[in-house]
Amino acid sequence: MAHVRSLFFSGPLSEIEDKAFKAASLGRPSDIIWNITNRCNLLCEHCYMAADGHRRPDELSHEEAIALVRQMGEIGVPMLFLSGGEPMVRPDFWEILEEAHRQGIRPTVSTNCTLIDREAARRLKANGVRWIATSLYGPDEFHDAMVRVPGTRQRVVDAIRVLREEGVGVVLKTALSKETWPYIYDLIQTAKDLDCGLIYICDLITSGRSEGEEDTRVTNDQWRELADWILDDVLDPDQKLEYDIGALPSIIPYMAERLLERGIDVTKGLERLKIMSACPVGKGHMNINSAGGIMPCQFAQDWVVGTVREMSLTEAVQVLYQLDLEDSKGACSPEECEYTRICRGCRTKAWQQFGDPFAEDTTCILQRDGERTLAAHESMREPRPSPAAPCMAPGSCG
Ligand SMILES: C[S@@+](CC[C@H](N)C(=O)[O-])C[C@H]1O[C@@H](n2cnc3c(N)ncnc32)[C@H](O)[C@@H]1O
Ligand code: SF4
Ligand code: SF4
Repeated sequence: MAHVRSLFFSGPLSEIEDKAFKAASLGRPSDIIWNITNRCNLLCEHCYMAADGHRRPDELSHEEAIALVRQMGEIGVPMLFLSGGEPMVRPDFWEILEEAHRQGIRPTVSTNCTLIDREAARRLKANGVRWIATSLYGPDEFHDAMVRVPGTRQRVVDAIRVLREEGVGVVLKTALSKETWPYIYDLIQTAKDLDCGLIYICDLITSGRSEGEEDTRVTNDQWRELADWILDDVLDPDQKLEYDIGALPSIIPYMAERLLERGIDVTKGLERLKIMSACPVGKGHMNINSAGGIMPCQFAQDWVVGTVREMSLTEAVQVLYQLDLEDSKGACSPEECEYTRICRGCRTKAWQQFGDPFAEDTTCILQRDGERTLAAHESMREPRPSPAAPCMAPGSCG
C-alpha cells in the first residue's frame, strides 16, 4: 500500500495508513486481503484469478469463514479487504461482513459493483464499510468487451453514484496495460467526476487469464510519463484525488526523487518507507485465498506459505515477516540499488518470473536502456529498522 498523497503529504487515507503502520510496527497483520471466493459473475479477459462461475471445491465453509473473522478480531487486525472473484456472489457474504463489523475490524469490499443497488449500499454502510473498491477500464464498449458482459460499465457507474449519495467512499481501480493506456487520463478524470477519493492503478499482472502477456505491459517511459503527471496533479492545490499504484514499487523511489529535485520535503514518506517499503510483501500485509491458503501477495495465488486450516494468523504473520529478513538479489540487491530497503522491487514478479521471491524485479522503471535514470539522494541509503521481533499480544499495547 503506497498512497502517494498520504505517503508524502497528507491525504484522505492517512488515518487508515496510520493504523496499518502502527500494526506493522507492532508485528501484527497491518491488513488482510481475503479472496472469499473464486467465483465471479463477470469474465474479465485480464483477470489474474481467472475467476469464472465455478466455486473451488476446497473453498472455506461458512463455519470456517466466520471462525476466521473472529480470529482476526482477537488479534486486532485493523483492516480487512473482502475480495474475490466477486465477493458479493458468495451466499454468506453479508454474514461475513457483519461478523467483521462486530469484531471492530474496518472492512473494505473489493467488488465489480454489479450487485450494488441502493439497499445494498445502505447495508454496506450500516456494516462499517467506509470504502468500496471497484473497477473501470475505459469507455462503455471497451469496458463491456473487457469484462465480457454487456451493460456492465453503466451498472458500475450507477452503483458508484448511489454509493456516493449514501456516503460510502469509492476507490476506482484499473489495470494498466497497452489496451487500457489510451484511456488512463480519461479514467482519472472519471474518478474525479464521480467523486471517488482514490484511483488505484495496477501494473498488469501476467498470470491467470493474462499469463504470457508480458508484451501487453506498458513501457517504462509510459510509466514515468504517468508518474510525472500524477505528481503534478498531487501538487496542484485544487486537486484532491489520491493515487495508489499497484505492483510497481519502483514508482515510489522514482516519485521521491522527482519531488526532491523540486525541493519538496519528502522526509515523512521516507521515514514510513523505512518500515513499510513500497512492496508490502513481508511487512505485515497478509493475503488469504478462498481455500484458506496464506499468501504474501494476492497477485501470486500459487505462492502459499501455509493455510488457516493448519496455522493461526499469529503464526502465519511470523512466517510472512521472515520474508522481510532476506535481501533482494541482483539489480535489487543492497550492493546494486540504493533504494532497496524502501522499495525492495516487486517480490511477486520475481516469484512469477524466476520462481525465487528474492530475485530482481526486471520491471523497475528506474532503468532506461540498461542505465539508471536518477541520481540517489543520501537519505535513501539509510538502513530501515525491521519489525523482526514483533509484539504479538492481542489488543493494543502501543
Ligand atoms: C480480482 S478483482 C476482485 C474484485 C472484483 N471482482 C473486481 O473486479 O473489482 C480485483 C482487482 O484486480 C484487478 N485485476 C484483475 N486481473 C488483473 C491483472 N492481470 N493485473 C492487474 N490487475 C488485475 C481487477 O481489475 C480488479 O480491480
Ligand atoms: S477482475 Fe474481478 S470482476 Fe473481473 S473476472 Fe476477475 S474477479 Fe471477476
Ligand atoms: S532496482 Fe529493484 S529495489 Fe531498486 S528501485 Fe528498482 S525495483 Fe526498486
